[in-house]
Amino acid sequence: MSARAVLLLLAAAPALAADPPLPRDSPDKHLGSKSCAESQCHGAAQPSAFAVVQEDEYNIWKGQDPHAKAFQALAGPLAKKIAKNLALGDPQQEGRCLDCHTDHVAEGQRGQKFALADGVGCEACHGAAERWMGDHSNGHRTHAENVATGMFPTEDPAQRGRLCFSCHMGTAAHPMTHELLGAGHPRLAIELDTFTSARPAHHREDADYRQRKPGQSPTRTWAIGQVQAAVQWLGLARNAKLGSGLLPEFSFFECYGCHRNLTPGAASVGGPRYDDCHVRMMGIVAERVAPAQAGDVFALLGKLASASGRPAAEDLLGRLAAAADKVDAAARAYTYSKDDARAWQERLLRLAREGEYVRYGTAEQASYALGALAAAQGESERPAVQAALDALFKSADDGSAFDPAAWRKAADNLARQLKAAPSK
Ligand code: HEC
Ligand code: HEC
Ligand code: HEC
Ligand code: HEC
Repeated sequence: MSARAVLLLLAAAPALAADPPLPRDSPDKHLGSKSCAESQCHGAAQPSAFAVVQEDEYNIWKGQDPHAKAFQALAGPLAKKIAKNLALGDPQQEGRCLDCHTDHVAEGQRGQKFALADGVGCEACHGAAERWMGDHSNGHRTHAENVATGMFPTEDPAQRGRLCFSCHMGTAAHPMTHELLGAGHPRLAIELDTFTSARPAHHREDADYRQRKPGQSPTRTWAIGQVQAAVQWLGLARNAKLGSGLLPEFSFFECYGCHRNLTPGAASVGGPRYDDCHVRMMGIVAERVAPAQAGDVFALLGKLASASGRPAAEDLLGRLAAAADKVDAAARAYTYSKDDARAWQERLLRLAREGEYVRYGTAEQASYALGALAAAQGESERPAVQAALDALFKSADDGSAFDPAAWRKAADNLARQLKAAPSK
């Protein structure tokens, strides 16, 4: 091997271990969702009985997936109201709206069939197709070969988390700011497993899928998703560029620490407090996947809640971020089992009973978690359990009307239904 080749290999090595660029950050061309829509590719009217993939992905996305309508949402009355409050022009032409409501890549990166009006399309999640489309559509490629040429590994929960959170939480370059929320943008909240299941699936996890993409499990998706959410949130909350002057960016604080509810003119309650719900959940994940970090995480969180002054808070956020990186590595490497799902479920129900989830954001994440962990164990197939979960979600549905005592009662009822013998 030549010295140059060795140097190239060395140069490439760290990039292989690192996370791949998000679809919108790669320099490749996005060919447009319509390039995937041939009937023998992903544009079939019905799912194929023979092909490894369904082949009707385009129709499911176009007809049922909220992402296909994300650009149209920018023409609706709420979008117009937000734009008016911010003194912006047409939201369908505003970069900061387009960043999350379509596949907003630079003009030079748009292929012939690309259209902003297609909203959050195939390549916004699966990555720019320029380098993989050709051979991929002949069926001569493995998934690994596709990924090596720019397909985004959506099957990997850590990567999927980075992807979904880039819009559902925001990034430093495309943030969800208090200014936007104050103008009327819906508050964002996400849990990876719940949101993955909430979209109409356009893939089936059958035998060949599990062979091509091993290791899929709701428990793993939930746990890794929580850790990834904490990592991303800590990166944003520590970013001094977000925020104005001495004040940090309010969107990283609990809304309901300052607002009793989000209707204009409503009074405030208590004081600002970091919205640490993802980091708290990460602590619970760490108890099993990285026990040495869990104690640190909760101790630092305790200090963060009472930290006075921004430098002290930022120091604590930095130390939490260092712990989160270790939990992240451990969570990706861990082998998840049903025992983990059971243990986390019991832990959350115990914390609920002890009154841990009195703040809205934490109760919301605990509800998502209890839903995901019950589904992971097949328990939500029991109607009484599903009904108890529905009631739990309902009691954490609206932050403005959140009643911690009612939520706790709903969690207790879920615990009772889980204990009861399966109703056959
Ligand atoms: C950081 C990413 C991000 C940015 C920036 C952003 N949005 Fe959104 N927006 C979202 C997400 C994610 C949702 C869906 C939230 C949910 O339902 O959980 C959403 C939902 C909406 C909705 C509700 C859609 C519906 O169908 O009910 C409207 C309207 C909206 N956004 C308008 C705007 C406008 C106008 C702008 C620019 C001023 C903007 N958004 C900027 C991510 C973003
Ligand atoms: C919001 C993100 C998102 C969008 C938009 C999206 N997908 Fe997907 N897609 C996923 C996720 C997540 C999975 C499941 C995990 C996996 O196997 O990658 C998936 C799975 C698939 C699979 C199954 C892969 C297999 O191995 O069986 C195909 C094929 C696919 N998508 C094609 C498309 C096409 C074509 C479009 C556009 C019409 C599209 N997707 C739009 C996120 C998305
Ligand atoms: C490029 C930005 C972007 C990415 C990436 C993205 N989303 Fe979305 N998502 C949106 C927007 C914008 C909406 C709101 C669309 C609307 O209502 O018109 C949305 C809506 C949703 C909804 C419906 C929410 C509701 O309240 O009805 C779900 C569920 C969802 N996304 C899940 C996911 C998942 C899972 C992923 C990752 C596989 C993902 N999203 C990736 C921007 C994005
Ligand atoms: C540190 C305290 C603080 C936090 C935390 C906070 N806000 Fe605010 N919010 C304010 C203040 C002060 C105003 C009024 C001045 C302004 O518009 O900036 C306001 C205004 C608003 C408005 C406009 C209300 C009106 O009367 O027109 C909305 C909506 C809003 N915030 C939503 C949110 C959401 C959603 C969150 C959580 C992600 C949040 N806020 C977090 C202090 C806060």
